[in-house]
Amino acid sequence: MRRRPAVLFVCLGNICRSPLAEAALRSAASRAGLDIAVDSAGTGNWHVGNPPDRRAQATALRHGIDISRLRARQVESADYTRFSHIFALDHDNLRTLRMRAPPNATAEVALLLDWVAGRVGMSVADPYHGGSADFEKTWQDVSAAAEALVARFSSRA
Ligand code: 4NP
Repeated sequence: MRRRPAVLFVCLGNICRSPLAEAALRSAASRAGLDIAVDSAGTGNWHVGNPPDRRAQATALRHGIDISRLRARQVESADYTRFSHIFALDHDNLRTLRMRAPPNATAEVALLLDWVAGRVGMSVADPYHGGSADFEKTWQDVSAAAEALVARFSSRA
């Protein structure tokens, strides 16, 4: 039997993009009846223990999802065996993830938008220095990715 998919989304701070990706995938998987584990983390440690950025929280709420209880954490070595898939939100974080992979890593480490038709090779832009329109764009990107992931994981069952 195939292992239940376990997906970790990784950005820099774990307060903007990856918590939104986590929320979007949880929601899409639940709608599709897909049994999947979902989490998020950051390559950086500046925001460890903090809730998502207020603008990310507001964006998720606009789409009916409360992410206020999430707390930022940093990627750790055990993540590379605990998760089947680790998705970087951008190229910088993909590079960092690959550099930090322990020798016993089993997770597939990939760029998130490489799994989305028409978006291969693209990064989810960092909205941290932007405004609410940038956060909405992040939501659209991670929602499209969540739908693509659910379709791919559902067809493997
Ligand atoms: P995220 O956004 O990586 O999508 O969570 C950022 C959050 C914080 C910082 C940069 C990006 N920062 O420099 O503190």
